[in-house]
Amino acid sequence: DWKIQFCDALTNWYRRECRDLPWRRTSNPYWIWISEVMLQQTRVDTVIPYYLRFTERYPKMEDLAYAPEEELMKNWEGLGYYSRVRNLQSGVREAFETYGEVPADPVRFMKLKGVGPYTAGAVMSIAYGIPAPAVDGNVMRVLSRVLLIEDDIVKPKTRKIFEEAVMDLIDREDPSSFNQGLMELGATVCTPTRPKCLLCPVRDWCAAYHEGREEELPVKSKK
Ligand code: ADE
Repeated sequence: DWKIQFCDALTNWYRRECRDLPWRRTSNPYWIWISEVMLQQTRVDTVIPYYLRFTERYPKMEDLAYAPEEELMKNWEGLGYYSRVRNLQSGVREAFETYGEVPADPVRFMKLKGVGPYTAGAVMSIAYGIPAPAVDGNVMRVLSRVLLIEDDIVKPKTRKIFEEAVMDLIDREDPSSFNQGLMELGATVCTPTRPKCLLCPVRDWCAAYHEGREEELPVKSKK
């Protein structure tokens, strides 16, 4: 049915066209965790050199877990939101001391300091191939258009609607390419203004495209 076709079109496009980014060259769950925390409020181009330096300086969980605060802050300087790196260090220390690794279980992983639903879904799906939703702004934009979801993305309750949509659609053979395909589509094709629908691998299944309403979505109230 259309869900399988949609999934195949998205994951094949991602595997063919994805940008070559340093965190896509590793399968190390801890390194992927670092990348997802850095990417949360910072652009890809800015993150790249920080990610490379950070994984070189703290290649193993125990290197970060017991790094001195001052030096850690220096290596994060310029990324901002310093609570992110403090939480990351606490979460990594807790994971290392409790499991000796990044747990391959979304429930256990989400109990760690600083790990919310987005980080958990991203790391579990990308590093371990576990089907879990990783819903950020890009993913909400893409799915609001494909499925014509008109809920206000500013409202905290709306995330759940998108998480359920992901779980209904996700490719259980390749959750990593599915989630990263949604992120990549949002970043490069399904942009906030002037989306490049003619380049879109899933426009055949996009309700907003069929109705010519792609620029009306997502619905985002001003606070
Ligand atoms: N933004 C958030 N996660 C990302 C990823 N894995 N690749 C590129 N951009 C991202």
